[in-house]
Parts: sequence; C-alpha cells; structure tokens
Amino acid sequence: MALCRARAANLRRMKALVLSGGAGTRLRPITHTSAKQLVPVANKPVLFYGLEAIRDAGVTDVGIIVGDTAAEIEAAVGDGSALGIRVTYIRQEAPLGLAHCVLIARDFLGDDDFVMYLGDNFIIGGITELVAEFQAERYDAQILLTRVDNPSQFGVAELGPDGQVCTLVEKPQEPKSDLALVGVYMFTPVIHDAVMAIKPSGRGELEITDAIQWLIDEGRTVSPHLVTGYWKDTGRLEDMLECNRKVLESLEPSVRGTVDAESRVIGRVVVEEGAVIERSTVRGPAIIGRDTVIRDTYVGPFTSIYFGCTLEDTEIEHSIVLEQSTIRGVRRIEDSLIGKEVEVAPSSARPRAHRLMLGDHSKVSIA
Ligand code: G1P
Repeated sequence: MALCRARAANLRRMKALVLSGGAGTRLRPITHTSAKQLVPVANKPVLFYGLEAIRDAGVTDVGIIVGDTAAEIEAAVGDGSALGIRVTYIRQEAPLGLAHCVLIARDFLGDDDFVMYLGDNFIIGGITELVAEFQAERYDAQILLTRVDNPSQFGVAELGPDGQVCTLVEKPQEPKSDLALVGVYMFTPVIHDAVMAIKPSGRGELEITDAIQWLIDEGRTVSPHLVTGYWKDTGRLEDMLECNRKVLESLEPSVRGTVDAESRVIGRVVVEEGAVIERSTVRGPAIIGRDTVIRDTYVGPFTSIYFGCTLEDTEIEHSIVLEQSTIRGVRRIEDSLIGKEVEVAPSSARPRAHRLMLGDHSKVSIA
C-alpha cells in the first residue's frame, strides 16, 4: 500500500519548462544587448519572479530554454541553487515557437508532467494552487485564461456552454472572445504527441496553441482556469512600468543604506545596502539599489533604480533605471526605461544643443 502510494506520488512528480529565449523586439533597444527576461521589476529580473513561483509550487527540477541571450541568462540564474531549484539549460538554435521548445526538451522532460512558463510573463499570487489542482485532477492539460482588451495579440479561447474549451486560435484577426491564453500551461506527457503532430503556423512557428487544439480534437481533457488576479506579458515598456508599479505598491519598506540628515525618505521605500542618499527626497513607493548614489535629487513614486547608479541634481518618477547608469542635471524624467551604463547629462559645450548617441530603435522624447 505504502509502495503504491509512493509510486503514485512518483508518477505525479512535476518538472518545469521555462522559456527564456526570444528576441524581445518590442523592448528594443534594451533587448539589442540584453535578455528581456532579465529587465528588473522592483530591482529583480522578471524571470526570477517566475522561477520563485515555480519553486513555491514545489517544483524544483527546471529546464530553461535559452536562445541568443543564453550566456546572460546562465550568468544570472547559474545552477539555480540560490533560488532553491536545479536548472538544466536547453539551447534553442532559432525561435521556432513554443511547441518547438517542448519538442527539444523531450529528453529533459522524460515522461513527467510539467508546467510550462513563459519567462516574460508576470503573475501576482503565484501558481501554487494551480499546480496542486493539476496534480490532483491530472487533466491531460490545463490552461490559464484571462480577459483582455486586445485579444488579437494573444492566443484566444472560445468556451462552450459548460465552460469547456472548444477552440484555441493564435492571434486571431477576429477573436471569438476576450479570453487570452496566459503564458503558464500544465501538461501530461500526451503533449509530446501533439507537438509532433502539428505543422508550423503562418508565422513559421510551431504554436503551443495549435498543439493544445490538437489535444481537444483528439478528445483529451483540457481544463481552463480563469485568472482573476494580476497578469501581464511584459513585452512592452508600458507593461514593464505597470509591473514595476504593482510590485512596488506592496514593498516592505527598509533602509539598509545611508540617508543623511538633509534627506527625506517618505512612504514605502527600500534603500539597499551601500546606497547613499544625500540632500535628496525619495517619495515611495520606490527602490534604490545597492551602491547607488542619490544626491540633490528627487526620486518620485513608482521608480526603481538598480545597483551602482549615480543620480545627481535630477528629478525622476515612474521609471526604471538599470545598473551602473548616471543621470545628472536632468529635470524631469518620467515614464522611462533607461538601460545599463547609460549617461544622461546636460552639455556644457556651446552652442547649447542636444547631443545624442543612441542605439538602434531608441526612443527619445524631448520636453
Ligand atoms: C505567446 C503565446 C500566446 C499567449 C502569450 C502570452 O505569445 O503564443 O498564445 O497568449 O504568449 O504571453 P507571444 O508572446 O509568443 O507572441
């Protein structure tokens, strides 16, 4: 009896497959040089929120699909031990689709059930209950759906009268509903038959949406779960800023750096180790990264400044600044995403002019 139970428990062991390739074209120029999954939200890479949600759901055996940004992802995540998981990297030579990722992960996945998680998706509240439900019920697949205003940018589900999934269509021009597929899926090994059976879509990719439709056509049970909490595909600048806002809103304030007597730190503010705040005001929710210097500056709500930055004589609000950047003498910056090792400063040379060196696909709007 005990042996049976152990065997049953074994059968339901789950792995995770996290997709962290992709070009991130909508976040250019940041993604010309960096992986979109590593853009920090409240000073933590987006990808880490997903990995932590997976770990919190009790899944520790994690395969990460990597593409051109493999080196950067591997440097950030390592073997996963710092996050309490065990990571296997799987290289995808070209972005040939989400179902292609399942195909190339066959050896890693073996015959285990797994949760597939898109590394740029952001869910508040985790996936623990969903994983538990899937392990208990063991449908052939479980999908997450949420209502969106712009369904034609997602995979879209049409539900029948009893709430069962009837059709799934990838980015339809005329969506049959406003129910978008969230980038978290749970599968039993039968998905391997599906990804072998389907053909590439119009955009030349093997779509996971088509693979799940194949399961439905084969009479398999695909259970839909409506997500009512916060979910975002962090593809664009606005999405990054919104996620940043959401996380900062529930920040636990703490000051581990130094704040001088002439500075004011108001509301939910985290000042990380080694950060220095002089003659400045930081109005939360905001986070100031380790070893960052804020001098004669105003940092307004919903701002995350990553590590090793210098901000002087500047006003900034509702923005994300990546590591090692310098901003001096600028008022005022809002709604911005500033990359790594960027310098923004007024020019002293005459004639007075904007002097720019911008990467491809940069966006600058001058006040
Ligand atoms: C992918 C899926 C789509 C899903 C979306 C969620 O789209 O193909 O069905 O709704 O993720 O983030 P992509 O981001 O690859 O365009």
